[in-house]
Amino acid sequence: MNIDLCKIIDLPKITDARGNLTFVEGGNQIPFDIQRVYYLYDVPGGAQRGGHAHKGLHQLIIAMSGSFDVVLDDGANKKRVHMNRSYNGLYVCPMIWRELDNFSSGSVLMVLASNKYDEDDYYRDYNQFLLGRQ
Ligand code: TYD
Repeated sequence: MNIDLCKIIDLPKITDARGNLTFVEGGNQIPFDIQRVYYLYDVPGGAQRGGHAHKGLHQLIIAMSGSFDVVLDDGANKKRVHMNRSYNGLYVCPMIWRELDNFSSGSVLMVLASNKYDEDDYYRDYNQFLLGRQ
């Protein structure tokens, strides 16, 4: 699994003068079924989140409001992705180290995840992550 598999997915956008609407269906717009949704909010200026990788979890990260950056790292290559559109999702495959930073004031980040929370699925130590990739 490398960062080339992590891509921005253009989600459907139903434009309407009354307000736009975007939807996501597990297995349709995204390559996994959704078992869990979580979100980050009230993020203080300068905060950094993430700092881990998942062994088997697939995720879609969406900027519901405001903006932030996601730094993806597969152990060999890194890329920084700026997220600021509610109709874009960043697909993150398993075995990718991610850091989240540059949050704008009032930003809300939503994650759709392929499994329920499982601490055993995390690499929280970067060197362990690199060993796990070998
Ligand atoms: P963590 O995944 O480290 O947060 P982030 O990636 O945003 O920096 O999770 C932070 C804490 O929240 C950690 O103690 C685990 C807990 N948590 C849950 O209980 N359930 C969840 O679905 C998630 C994502 C985290």
